[in-house]
Amino acid sequence: MDYKVADLTLAEYGRKELSLAEHEMPGLMALRERYADSQPLAGARIAGSLHMTIQTGVLIETLVALGADVRWASCNIFSTQDHAAAAIVVGDGTVENPTGIPVFAWKGETLGEYWDLAENVFDFTDADGNAVGPNILLDDGGDITLLVHKGVEFEKAGAVPGQDTTDNEEYKEVLRVLDRSLKNNPSRWTNIANDIKGVSEETTTGVLRLYDRFKEGSLLFPAINVNDSVTKSKFDNKYGCRHSLIDGINRGTDVMIGGKVAVVCGYGDVGKGSAESLRGQGARVIITEIDPICALQAAMDGFEVRRLDSVVETADIFITTTGNFNIITVEHFKKMKNQAIVGNIGHFDNEIDMAGLSKIDGIVKDEIKPQVHQWLFPAADGREAKKIIVLSEGRLLNLGNATGHPSFVMSNSFTNQVLAQIELYTKTSEYPVGVYVLPKHLDEEVARLHLDALGVELTELSQEQADYLGVPVEGPYKADHYRY
Ligand code: NAI
Repeated sequence: MDYKVADLTLAEYGRKELSLAEHEMPGLMALRERYADSQPLAGARIAGSLHMTIQTGVLIETLVALGADVRWASCNIFSTQDHAAAAIVVGDGTVENPTGIPVFAWKGETLGEYWDLAENVFDFTDADGNAVGPNILLDDGGDITLLVHKGVEFEKAGAVPGQDTTDNEEYKEVLRVLDRSLKNNPSRWTNIANDIKGVSEETTTGVLRLYDRFKEGSLLFPAINVNDSVTKSKFDNKYGCRHSLIDGINRGTDVMIGGKVAVVCGYGDVGKGSAESLRGQGARVIITEIDPICALQAAMDGFEVRRLDSVVETADIFITTTGNFNIITVEHFKKMKNQAIVGNIGHFDNEIDMAGLSKIDGIVKDEIKPQVHQWLFPAADGREAKKIIVLSEGRLLNLGNATGHPSFVMSNSFTNQVLAQIELYTKTSEYPVGVYVLPKHLDEEVARLHLDALGVELTELSQEQADYLGVPVEGPYKADHYRY
């Protein structure tokens, strides 16, 4: 078995945490039981790219329990938990003779390593030992979906990726990997794309990319938007971030949050969870928004809503949650006060202008510990010298500085993922190229699977009440336009 992880001797620790997590992931465990005999994913070759955490370990082993062959990479250079990766690779085997699932990820990859590792998830072997590609993707943020689409674009155009130019450091790595792969096999990505039945996408940012592709007519296979299952975005994005945002800030800095002024940029699902998380610690929270509806929500939830420029000189903590770019700029950094803390919990690192920060005259980056840096600003333009603390180099800090969302909320997200994989794999003809959300009855089912664990007593509709509302007794209970 091939794999690339940091240290297989961490497997025992990882396995203990996996078994703790299984108890907290009732949705995934229920699917294992339900589908143990029917094996709906038998024959599926799943290429996965999603934060290689303990919770993802339970997802991977669930996909395998349903019959799938799986290869996995992380979707972020800092988010891998090395003990999780080790345990998944070792499986039922030993450190000397691992027999688990091929994982290609470690905590603290370089950008070049990240894209090299991502390419490994496409290298399956069939029962006769022949090299084959995946027939289904599971993505978070759209990076492996991007590799396939870009590869096919270069092949169709007969163009050489290595001759393309870009200023974007990350895209340079994509071009390098595509260049190498096309030199080895000029039709590699077209062959792979032809076999792919679809992709299930985990997050807001990845979903945005899929809708863009569909609109411009370049989407190559169907996609299920897992993010917009209610039991994903209204739970993971919100309650997950409510838990893991302050976990990241605490582990990174151990600074007292109570009493500080914290600015949360964006009041979508992630912003709502983040703001509540900081308020729960006693921070005085200020929101920035561009959408009047979300701005009004923030105000009526009791938050001050201001422009970043109005508060940048006085706030202590800055968190970006927008999925947009250039939210915190070099000019903002220059105006911040000494020892301000800056972090991002949105998917990509371009919410904060890290490239611009590193180019400020005389600035020095000093590592306090991995994923925690102080940037030393020299005295300039009448301003005194100061330090600004940046978490996870501007990448999502809840996974870089802490361990991401806890198992229970991820069980909701990942139960949606498994159902999406089963849909795409077993009902392929029902999903022509397009972007879909799971049907509402499955969304309700995901929630249902998590009620017992919390001792929830669900009230049952009587037939008369159901008739009065015009819904079936067994659901679904809400129209598609209902917003929760
Ligand atoms: P969303 O679309 O619900 O919220 C984003 C909000 O930011 C919107 O309300 C939008 O109006 C606002 N916004 C956009 N540009 C802005 C600007 N210039 N200034 C202020 N506000 C602005 O998206 P959601 O679901 O909250 O996701 C946000 C990001 O977080 C995405 O990149 C997503 O992929 C990522 N994410 C990260 C997670 C994590 O664990 N770190 C978990 C789930 C999502």
